[in-house]
Amino acid sequence: MNTIKVSVPSTSANLGSGFDVVAIAHDAYRESLVLTVIDGGRGEITVESGSRKVAFQKNTAGLAASLIMEEYGISADLRISLTKSIPTGLGLGSSGASAAASVYAMNLAFDLGLSDNEMVRYAMLGETASSGTPHADNVSAALLGGITIVRSTDPMDCVSFRPEYGPNLLTVIPYVRLKNKTRSAREMIPTTVETDRAIDNSRRLSSLIHGLITGDRKSLYFGLNDAIYERSRISLYPYLDMFREKMLELGAVGVCASGAGPSILAFLDEQSDIRSMEKAASSIMGSFKLRFRMVSSGICGGARVE
Ligand code: HSE
Repeated sequence: MNTIKVSVPSTSANLGSGFDVVAIAHDAYRESLVLTVIDGGRGEITVESGSRKVAFQKNTAGLAASLIMEEYGISADLRISLTKSIPTGLGLGSSGASAAASVYAMNLAFDLGLSDNEMVRYAMLGETASSGTPHADNVSAALLGGITIVRSTDPMDCVSFRPEYGPNLLTVIPYVRLKNKTRSAREMIPTTVETDRAIDNSRRLSSLIHGLITGDRKSLYFGLNDAIYERSRISLYPYLDMFREKMLELGAVGVCASGAGPSILAFLDEQSDIRSMEKAASSIMGSFKLRFRMVSSGICGGARVE
Protein backbone atom coordinates (compact mmCIF):
# COMPACT_ATOMS: atom_id res chain seq x y z
CA MET A 1 0.00 0.00 0.00
CA ASN A 2 1.29 3.40 -0.95
CA THR A 3 -0.21 6.77 0.05
CA ILE A 4 0.43 10.24 -1.34
CA LYS A 5 -1.09 13.57 -0.31
CA VAL A 6 -1.16 16.54 -2.68
CA SER A 7 -2.77 19.96 -2.64
CA VAL A 8 -3.99 22.44 -5.26
CA PRO A 9 -5.15 26.08 -5.14
CA SER A 10 -8.45 27.72 -6.01
CA THR A 11 -8.56 29.28 -9.47
CA SER A 12 -10.55 31.83 -11.46
CA ALA A 13 -11.02 31.19 -15.16
CA ASN A 14 -11.91 33.40 -18.13
CA LEU A 15 -10.94 36.77 -16.56
CA GLY A 16 -13.48 38.56 -18.73
CA SER A 17 -12.45 38.13 -22.35
CA GLY A 18 -10.40 34.93 -21.96
CA PHE A 19 -13.25 32.43 -21.99
CA ASP A 20 -11.84 28.86 -21.80
CA VAL A 21 -8.35 30.29 -22.47
CA VAL A 22 -7.05 32.21 -19.44
CA ALA A 23 -7.04 31.39 -15.71
CA ILE A 24 -5.26 32.43 -12.54
CA ALA A 25 -4.29 30.37 -9.48
CA HIS A 26 -4.91 32.17 -6.17
CA ASP A 27 -4.37 31.47 -2.51
CA ALA A 28 -7.98 32.24 -1.52
CA TYR A 29 -8.34 28.51 -0.81
CA ARG A 30 -6.19 25.40 -1.06
CA GLU A 31 -7.44 21.85 -0.77
CA SER A 32 -5.93 18.40 -0.59
CA LEU A 33 -6.37 14.94 -2.00
CA VAL A 34 -5.00 11.70 -0.58
CA LEU A 35 -4.43 8.87 -3.03
CA THR A 36 -3.96 5.37 -1.65
CA VAL A 37 -2.77 2.67 -4.04
CA ILE A 38 -3.51 -0.93 -3.04
CA ASP A 39 -1.33 -3.23 -5.10
CA GLY A 40 -2.65 -6.49 -6.45
CA GLY A 41 -6.23 -5.21 -6.80
CA ARG A 42 -8.50 -5.33 -9.82
CA GLY A 43 -8.48 -1.67 -10.73
CA GLU A 44 -11.34 -0.57 -8.50
CA ILE A 45 -11.63 3.13 -7.70
CA THR A 46 -13.29 4.42 -4.54
CA VAL A 47 -13.83 8.16 -4.14
CA GLU A 48 -14.70 9.81 -0.85
CA SER A 49 -15.45 13.52 -0.73
CA GLY A 50 -15.44 14.46 2.93
CA SER A 51 -17.28 11.51 4.47
CA ARG A 52 -19.48 10.96 1.40
CA LYS A 53 -18.80 8.11 -1.05
CA VAL A 54 -19.28 9.14 -4.68
CA ALA A 55 -19.34 7.12 -7.92
CA PHE A 56 -15.91 7.60 -9.50
CA GLN A 57 -17.33 8.22 -13.01
CA LYS A 58 -19.37 11.14 -11.68
CA ASN A 59 -16.46 12.76 -9.89
CA THR A 60 -13.77 14.76 -11.70
CA ALA A 61 -10.94 13.20 -9.63
CA GLY A 62 -12.29 9.67 -10.10
CA LEU A 63 -12.87 10.08 -13.82
CA ALA A 64 -9.40 11.55 -14.42
CA ALA A 65 -7.77 8.70 -12.46
CA SER A 66 -9.78 6.07 -14.33
CA LEU A 67 -8.68 7.46 -17.71
CA ILE A 68 -5.04 7.25 -16.65
CA MET A 69 -5.52 3.70 -15.34
CA GLU A 70 -7.10 2.65 -18.61
CA GLU A 71 -4.42 4.21 -20.82
CA TYR A 72 -1.53 2.91 -18.71
CA GLY A 73 -3.06 -0.52 -17.97
CA ILE A 74 -2.87 0.02 -14.20
CA SER A 75 -4.60 -2.72 -12.23
CA ALA A 76 -4.12 -1.65 -8.58
CA ASP A 77 -7.12 -0.55 -6.51
CA LEU A 78 -7.28 3.20 -5.79
CA ARG A 79 -8.76 5.04 -2.86
CA ILE A 80 -9.16 8.78 -3.47
CA SER A 81 -10.02 10.91 -0.51
CA LEU A 82 -10.89 14.58 -1.11
CA THR A 83 -10.95 17.27 1.52
CA LYS A 84 -12.98 19.95 -0.20
CA SER A 85 -12.05 23.41 1.05
CA ILE A 86 -12.75 25.34 -2.14
CA PRO A 87 -16.46 26.25 -2.11
CA THR A 88 -18.22 24.16 -4.77
CA GLY A 89 -20.24 25.51 -7.68
CA LEU A 90 -19.23 29.13 -7.09
CA GLY A 91 -16.74 29.73 -9.90
CA LEU A 92 -13.57 29.14 -7.91
CA GLY A 93 -12.38 26.03 -9.71
CA SER A 94 -13.53 23.44 -7.21
CA SER A 95 -14.27 20.64 -9.70
CA GLY A 96 -11.09 21.40 -11.64
CA ALA A 97 -9.09 21.29 -8.41
CA SER A 98 -10.20 17.70 -7.73
CA ALA A 99 -9.30 16.62 -11.26
CA ALA A 100 -5.94 18.40 -11.16
CA ALA A 101 -5.00 16.97 -7.76
CA SER A 102 -5.96 13.47 -8.86
CA VAL A 103 -3.81 13.60 -12.00
CA TYR A 104 -0.88 15.12 -10.12
CA ALA A 105 -1.07 12.36 -7.48
CA MET A 106 -1.43 9.58 -10.08
CA ASN A 107 1.60 10.85 -11.97
CA LEU A 108 3.71 10.66 -8.82
CA ALA A 109 2.27 7.45 -7.38
CA PHE A 110 2.86 5.46 -10.59
CA ASP A 111 5.95 7.36 -11.69
CA LEU A 112 4.36 8.03 -15.09
CA GLY A 113 6.61 10.94 -16.06
CA LEU A 114 3.67 12.91 -17.50
CA SER A 115 4.56 16.33 -18.90
CA ASP A 116 2.66 19.42 -17.72
CA ASN A 117 0.56 19.38 -20.88
CA GLU A 118 -0.25 15.68 -20.51
CA MET A 119 -1.36 16.28 -16.93
CA VAL A 120 -3.54 19.20 -18.02
CA ARG A 121 -5.12 17.01 -20.72
CA TYR A 122 -6.09 14.23 -18.31
CA ALA A 123 -7.40 16.75 -15.79
CA MET A 124 -9.40 18.52 -18.51
CA LEU A 125 -11.02 15.20 -19.46
CA GLY A 126 -11.76 14.60 -15.78
CA GLU A 127 -13.53 17.99 -15.65
CA THR A 128 -16.21 16.68 -18.01
CA ALA A 129 -17.67 14.70 -15.08
CA SER A 130 -18.82 18.05 -13.75
CA SER A 131 -19.18 20.40 -16.71
CA GLY A 132 -20.29 18.03 -19.50
CA THR A 133 -17.83 19.52 -22.01
CA PRO A 134 -14.06 19.70 -21.55
CA HIS A 135 -12.35 22.97 -20.65
CA ALA A 136 -8.72 23.23 -19.59
CA ASP A 137 -8.48 26.72 -18.07
CA ASN A 138 -9.11 25.97 -14.37
CA VAL A 139 -7.15 22.71 -14.36
CA SER A 140 -4.15 24.31 -16.07
CA ALA A 141 -3.94 26.98 -13.35
CA ALA A 142 -4.55 24.47 -10.54
CA LEU A 143 -1.72 22.26 -11.84
CA LEU A 144 0.83 24.79 -13.09
CA GLY A 145 0.03 27.81 -10.89
CA GLY A 146 0.33 31.49 -11.82
CA ILE A 147 -1.56 32.77 -14.83
CA THR A 148 -2.15 30.19 -17.51
CA ILE A 149 -3.01 30.52 -21.17
CA VAL A 150 -4.41 27.49 -22.99
CA ARG A 151 -2.90 27.84 -26.46
CA SER A 152 -4.36 24.62 -27.81
CA THR A 153 -6.35 21.69 -26.45
CA ASP A 154 -5.59 19.23 -29.28
CA PRO A 155 -2.72 18.74 -28.86
CA MET A 156 -2.80 20.21 -25.33
CA ASP A 157 -0.47 23.17 -25.04
CA CYS A 158 -0.50 25.59 -22.09
CA VAL A 159 1.85 28.25 -20.85
CA SER A 160 2.09 29.56 -17.29
CA PHE A 161 3.75 32.74 -15.97
CA ARG A 162 4.00 34.78 -12.77
CA PRO A 163 4.05 38.55 -13.36
CA GLU A 164 6.25 40.65 -11.12
CA TYR A 165 3.58 43.22 -10.16
CA GLY A 166 1.34 40.80 -8.26
CA PRO A 167 -1.63 41.06 -8.84
CA ASN A 168 -3.81 41.55 -5.73
CA LEU A 169 -7.19 39.92 -6.03
CA LEU A 170 -10.52 40.17 -4.28
CA THR A 171 -13.33 37.64 -4.64
CA VAL A 172 -16.90 38.30 -3.66
CA ILE A 173 -18.50 34.91 -3.06
CA PRO A 174 -22.29 34.74 -2.65
CA TYR A 175 -23.83 31.94 -0.59
CA VAL A 176 -25.98 30.34 -3.25
CA ARG A 177 -26.48 26.78 -4.41
CA LEU A 178 -26.85 26.33 -8.14
CA LYS A 179 -27.25 22.70 -9.17
CA ASN A 180 -25.08 21.62 -12.13
CA LYS A 181 -24.01 25.25 -12.46
CA THR A 182 -21.08 24.93 -14.87
CA ARG A 183 -22.94 22.47 -17.08
CA SER A 184 -25.94 24.85 -17.38
CA ALA A 185 -23.66 27.89 -17.70
CA ARG A 186 -21.90 26.30 -20.66
CA GLU A 187 -25.25 25.74 -22.35
CA MET A 188 -25.87 29.50 -22.19
CA ILE A 189 -22.90 30.29 -24.44
CA PRO A 190 -23.94 31.37 -27.96
CA THR A 191 -23.06 28.85 -30.66
CA THR A 192 -22.28 31.53 -33.26
CA VAL A 193 -20.87 35.03 -32.91
CA GLU A 194 -21.01 37.94 -35.38
CA THR A 195 -17.67 39.08 -36.78
CA ASP A 196 -17.95 42.55 -35.19
CA ARG A 197 -18.30 41.04 -31.73
CA ALA A 198 -15.51 38.53 -32.39
CA ILE A 199 -13.20 41.40 -33.39
CA ASP A 200 -14.20 43.36 -30.30
CA ASN A 201 -13.39 40.35 -28.16
CA SER A 202 -10.03 39.81 -29.87
CA ARG A 203 -9.15 43.39 -28.96
CA ARG A 204 -10.17 42.80 -25.37
CA LEU A 205 -8.30 39.51 -25.09
CA SER A 206 -5.13 41.03 -26.57
CA SER A 207 -5.48 43.85 -24.06
CA LEU A 208 -6.01 41.34 -21.23
CA ILE A 209 -2.82 39.44 -22.07
CA HIS A 210 -0.83 42.69 -22.28
CA GLY A 211 -2.30 43.78 -18.94
CA LEU A 212 -1.64 40.46 -17.25
CA ILE A 213 1.99 40.45 -18.34
CA THR A 214 2.79 44.09 -17.64
CA GLY A 215 0.26 45.12 -14.97
CA ASP A 216 -0.82 48.03 -17.19
CA ARG A 217 -4.01 49.38 -15.59
CA LYS A 218 -5.77 50.43 -18.76
CA SER A 219 -5.08 47.14 -20.53
CA LEU A 220 -6.31 45.13 -17.55
CA TYR A 221 -9.43 47.27 -17.16
CA PHE A 222 -10.31 46.86 -20.82
CA GLY A 223 -9.43 43.16 -21.02
CA LEU A 224 -11.34 42.17 -17.90
CA ASN A 225 -14.53 42.84 -19.84
CA ASP A 226 -16.29 40.68 -22.33
CA ALA A 227 -19.34 41.22 -24.50
CA ILE A 228 -19.95 37.63 -25.57
CA TYR A 229 -19.46 34.90 -22.98
CA GLU A 230 -19.70 36.70 -19.66
CA ARG A 231 -22.65 38.71 -20.99
CA SER A 232 -24.56 35.61 -22.13
CA ARG A 233 -24.60 34.35 -18.54
CA ILE A 234 -25.56 37.58 -16.81
CA SER A 235 -28.60 35.91 -15.22
CA LEU A 236 -26.18 33.84 -13.11
CA TYR A 237 -24.68 37.02 -11.61
CA PRO A 238 -27.21 39.82 -12.08
CA TYR A 239 -25.23 42.02 -9.65
CA LEU A 240 -22.07 42.04 -11.82
CA ASP A 241 -22.70 45.39 -13.54
CA MET A 242 -23.43 47.10 -10.21
CA PHE A 243 -20.23 45.65 -8.75
CA ARG A 244 -18.19 46.65 -11.72
CA GLU A 245 -19.38 50.24 -11.62
CA LYS A 246 -18.98 50.61 -7.85
CA MET A 247 -15.63 48.85 -7.53
CA LEU A 248 -14.10 50.80 -10.41
CA GLU A 249 -15.31 53.98 -8.73
CA LEU A 250 -13.50 52.78 -5.59
CA GLY A 251 -10.24 52.26 -7.44
CA ALA A 252 -10.38 48.63 -8.63
CA VAL A 253 -8.23 47.96 -11.70
CA GLY A 254 -10.88 45.73 -13.27
CA VAL A 255 -13.77 43.47 -12.40
CA CYS A 256 -15.12 40.27 -13.98
CA ALA A 257 -17.12 37.15 -13.21
CA SER A 258 -14.95 34.44 -11.67
CA GLY A 259 -15.22 31.51 -14.11
CA ALA A 260 -18.87 30.75 -14.76
CA GLY A 261 -19.81 32.75 -11.63
CA PRO A 262 -21.67 33.48 -9.48
CA SER A 263 -18.56 34.80 -7.66
CA ILE A 264 -17.04 38.10 -8.76
CA LEU A 265 -13.30 38.72 -9.09
CA ALA A 266 -11.64 42.14 -8.85
CA PHE A 267 -8.04 43.06 -9.62
CA LEU A 268 -6.80 45.63 -7.11
CA ASP A 269 -3.76 47.80 -6.55
CA GLU A 270 -2.61 50.56 -4.19
CA GLN A 271 -5.32 52.89 -5.54
CA SER A 272 -8.09 50.51 -4.44
CA ASP A 273 -10.14 51.26 -1.34
CA ILE A 274 -10.98 47.76 -0.01
CA ARG A 275 -12.79 49.01 3.12
CA SER A 276 -15.29 50.96 1.06
CA MET A 277 -15.62 47.99 -1.31
CA GLU A 278 -16.76 45.84 1.60
CA LYS A 279 -19.48 48.34 2.47
CA ALA A 280 -20.52 48.60 -1.17
CA ALA A 281 -20.65 44.79 -1.47
CA SER A 282 -22.94 44.58 1.57
CA SER A 283 -25.29 47.07 0.08
CA ILE A 284 -25.31 45.49 -3.41
CA MET A 285 -25.67 41.89 -2.18
CA GLY A 286 -28.24 43.07 0.38
CA SER A 287 -30.37 44.44 -2.45
CA PHE A 288 -30.33 40.93 -3.97
CA LYS A 289 -31.05 39.40 -0.54
CA LEU A 290 -27.82 37.41 -0.76
CA ARG A 291 -25.33 36.67 1.96
CA PHE A 292 -21.73 36.66 0.81
CA ARG A 293 -18.12 36.58 1.90
CA MET A 294 -15.18 38.56 0.56
CA VAL A 295 -11.74 36.97 0.30
CA SER A 296 -8.51 38.82 -0.54
CA SER A 297 -5.85 36.72 -2.20
CA GLY A 298 -2.73 36.76 -4.31
CA ILE A 299 -1.46 34.75 -7.22
CA CYS A 300 0.13 31.45 -6.17
CA GLY A 301 1.81 28.25 -7.29
CA GLY A 302 0.01 25.13 -8.50
CA ALA A 303 -0.12 21.52 -7.37
CA ARG A 304 2.37 20.28 -4.78
CA VAL A 305 3.05 17.33 -2.52
CA GLU A 306 2.04 17.86 1.12
N1 HSE B 1 -14.17 28.47 -18.84
C1 HSE B 1 -15.10 27.77 -18.01
C2 HSE B 1 -16.48 28.35 -18.22
C3 HSE B 1 -14.68 27.92 -16.58
O1 HSE B 1 -16.61 29.56 -18.11
O2 HSE B 1 -17.40 27.60 -18.51
C4 HSE B 1 -15.64 27.28 -15.59
O3 HSE B 1 -15.15 27.57 -14.28
